[in-house]
Amino acid sequence: MIRINSNYQKLQANYLFADIARRVRAFQAEHPEREIIRLGIGDVTRALPPACIAAMHKAADELASEATFRGYGPEQGYDFLREAIAEHDFRARGADISADEIFVSDGAKCDTGNIQELFAQDVRVAIPDPVYPVYVDTNVMAGRTGAAQDGRYPGFTYLDCTAANGYVPALPTQDVDLIYLCFPNNPTGATATREQLQAWVDWARAHRALILFDAAYEAFIRDERLPHSIYEIAGAKEVAIEFRSFSKTAGFTGVRCAYTVVPEACMAWDEAGKPVSVRDLWSRRHTTKFNGVSYPVQRAAEAVYSAEGRPQVRELIDFYLNNAAYIRQALQGMGLACTGGDNSPYIWVDAGRDSWEFFDLLLREAGVVCTPGVGFGHCGEKHIRISAFNSFENVRTAMQRMADALK
Ligand code: MLT
Repeated sequence: MIRINSNYQKLQANYLFADIARRVRAFQAEHPEREIIRLGIGDVTRALPPACIAAMHKAADELASEATFRGYGPEQGYDFLREAIAEHDFRARGADISADEIFVSDGAKCDTGNIQELFAQDVRVAIPDPVYPVYVDTNVMAGRTGAAQDGRYPGFTYLDCTAANGYVPALPTQDVDLIYLCFPNNPTGATATREQLQAWVDWARAHRALILFDAAYEAFIRDERLPHSIYEIAGAKEVAIEFRSFSKTAGFTGVRCAYTVVPEACMAWDEAGKPVSVRDLWSRRHTTKFNGVSYPVQRAAEAVYSAEGRPQVRELIDFYLNNAAYIRQALQGMGLACTGGDNSPYIWVDAGRDSWEFFDLLLREAGVVCTPGVGFGHCGEKHIRISAFNSFENVRTAMQRMADALK
C-alpha cells in the first residue's frame, strides 16, 4: 500500500497565495463586471529591462547555430553570471564572496524551501512571525513540527515581530539551530540595521547556529546606512547562507533566475561533532536535483550588471518604490497605521480588525486584492500587506477606491 508523507496533513489545505487566487476567482465569477486591482502577491507588472531582453535574444540566436549551441550548462550556473554576481553584488560592497560560493537557481522560493534538507531532522528552527510561508511549510513537510495548534506549529521557536520591536525580532531566549531572517522583510517591509544584524551573527556564532538570510528585496534598499547583504557584517560567512533573486530586482518573476550564496567557511556538524562544509552539501544537492537555469535566462541575468542594465534596473525599482511611497501616504491619510514602503515594495497595514474580514471588505467594496496578514502567521492577524507591484494608475485608483470604501 502506497502511503503518504503524513506531515503534509499538518499543512493548511492551500498555499497562501493559491488560497487568495481561489477567493478572487470566485468573487470574479460572481461579479464579472467588477474590475479587480491586484496588490496581493508581489508579482511584477513592468516589462523586463531592455538590456536583459537584448541579451536573451542574442543568447537565443547563439542556440540557433551549431557553432555556438550549448546543451546542459553547469548546474551551479555559468561562470560569467557567478563572476558578475560576486563582483557587483558583493565585492563592490566590501563583502568578500567568490564565484564558487554562488549557486544560480530558478528561484529563491525553491532555494529557501529546499535548503532545510541539508540539516538534521531534529534541528531546532526559529521562525519569525509574521513570515514568508515557505520557510514554515517546508519544515512542516519535512516533519520538524507537530500538528498546528491555534495557527502555530509546536516544534518551532517563534520570533514575534510587532510594532513594539519595529518588526525586527529579538534574539532567541532559548537555543535554536536554524534561524530564518528576511530583510527588507516580506511581509512587513521592515529593514535591519548593521548593529541588529551584527547581534544576530554574534548570537549564531556563539550558539553554532546557522542563519538563512533571505535578501530577495535587497535592491529596494535606498537608505545608504542599511546593509544589503549579511556578508557586510563581520563574521557572517561562517554562520549565514544568503538568498537573492532577480524576480523583484529585474522583473524576472516569470523568467525565473535567482541565486544562493553558501560561503566556503560555512560549517555544520555531523553526528560525531565533526565540521562539514555546508557549501559542499548544497553543491551535492544542487547537482543531483537541479540541471541549471537556461542559458538565455542566465545571459539576461548577467545583463542586469551591464552598463546599460544597471540604470534600467534602478529605474524599474524606483518606479515601484514611488508606488510604495504613494500607497503608504494614502493609507496614512485614511488613518491607517502602516510600516514598510520605503526600502521595500511592501506596506504592512494595521487593519484593526480580522485580516481575512478586511481582505473580503476590500475585495467586495473596492475591488482591491491585498494579502491578509494572518496568512503570514499569528502575529499578522489584524494586519494586511499591500504590494506596490502594479501600474501607478492602478495604484492610484486602488487607493481612491479604498478611501471611498473605508469612509
Ligand atoms: C509574495 O508576494 O510574498 C511573493 O511574491 C511570493 C514569492 O516571491 O514567492
